[in-house]
Amino acid sequence: MRLSAGAVGRLLCFAPECIVPPMFLALLACSTPGSTPPPADAPTWHADVEPIVTRSCTGCHTEGGNAPVSLTSYASAASWKDAIAEAVGSRTMPPWLASPDCNTYQGDRSLTEEEIATILAWADAGAPEGDVATAVVSEPLADPVLDSVDLTIAMPEAYTPTASPDDYRCFLIDWPLAERAYVTGFEVNPGNLQTVHHAIPFLVDAADVEAYRALDAADPAPGYTCYGSPNGDPRALESTRWLGSWAPGGGTATFPAGSGIRVEPGSVVALQMHYNVANGGGDDLTSVDFQLADAVEHSADLQPWTDIAWVLGGGMDIPAHTDGVTHTFAYTATEDDGSFFLHSSALHMHTRGKSASLVIQRAGEEDECLLAVEQYDFDWQRSYYFDAPATVNPGDTVLLTCTWDNPGDDDLDWGEGTGDEMCLATTFLTDAY
Ligand code: HEC
Repeated sequence: MRLSAGAVGRLLCFAPECIVPPMFLALLACSTPGSTPPPADAPTWHADVEPIVTRSCTGCHTEGGNAPVSLTSYASAASWKDAIAEAVGSRTMPPWLASPDCNTYQGDRSLTEEEIATILAWADAGAPEGDVATAVVSEPLADPVLDSVDLTIAMPEAYTPTASPDDYRCFLIDWPLAERAYVTGFEVNPGNLQTVHHAIPFLVDAADVEAYRALDAADPAPGYTCYGSPNGDPRALESTRWLGSWAPGGGTATFPAGSGIRVEPGSVVALQMHYNVANGGGDDLTSVDFQLADAVEHSADLQPWTDIAWVLGGGMDIPAHTDGVTHTFAYTATEDDGSFFLHSSALHMHTRGKSASLVIQRAGEEDECLLAVEQYDFDWQRSYYFDAPATVNPGDTVLLTCTWDNPGDDDLDWGEGTGDEMCLATTFLTDAY
């Protein structure tokens, strides 16, 4: 289903899963287990710590995984005990920003206060191993993987960003299938983690393809410039749909069983790449893997939520030297929209983002909180899939709230640069389920 146009802008940067973020600031602290014997009642690796670490950490921290340290063996974990204590105690690890007071989510790998205390006491006691006979087995909470890769599309050739610091470039890629298909999952593979700030494969309907080809033909370099939307005109955000997205900390999704995004033969994908060269340059060749089905029970959309007025003309003022600036966007569902269901959400701001939330307001009822991030982190912008999908009926309001701290000297507003700001939620939406 599609929501009625106008109020809901379809926009840019966003995210859903586990990919190495561009910067990591913590200092490495290697140490060996202490030589004095640990207190007899201290937690041990096998009995207490390993089950927590296996569940919440080794989805990423494995040998050859996309996180820097392997935490799958006692020897390795013990040698990293101080860094683990630092990361867990400061709540930077595991990266799970969804507030537990708002909603419950699939694959929740966050730690309870008690689990944090256990890990800190273990590190403090010199990381005792304990007896392997007391080992408690647990399974890693891994991020979703595609059941199959049925189609891969890639940029036709590598591209080196030319505009600095931000370059928006779109690449047209033919959708090669001769029959209608449904996208049931995707994985975006950014080619250059230094420069890729976001990637969105927009679906261009066959009727619009010619106009897009003209843009491409008019620009001699690979692809064409496309700030704001896949053809540079923000209004095109309402005539194109998203087939996926990537931003730091995100990039893979498998949709709820029986649902998918319809793609007709003759369509073209406009892969919008936002490059930021502040951390270095180099070329990029990004690709997207799709999991497909011939038919699904429920049609779905990756639905962005933001105020199209901000996109077209600003008005999302964030004055210099001001903390706690809040803007909201409310969309009230119409009779034409009918009822629809929201299954997931990711929240997107840029580097001054402080907190954000997405809630449903219903007349005469308490608000239903879908996702609240109290300490926003640009490096971790995954999608959170709700344990139970949320229903939105005509008359209900979807409310997006974003708050920023702006210590800098420049007034900020909506803009495409990493130095500008945004306020956007993305959701996976079905017309039934
Ligand atoms: C979603 C993937 C993911 C999960 C889950 C995760 N980490 Fe990490 N971790 C990373 C990445 C990526 C980095 C490096 C970049 C960064 O820190 O942002 C990192 C960095 C670290 C570091 C710093 C390593 C260094 O170089 O000093 C430690 C320690 C750490 N993680 C511990 C943990 C622990 C303990 C858990 C579980 C409680 C955990 N992580 C869960 C992805 C993850």
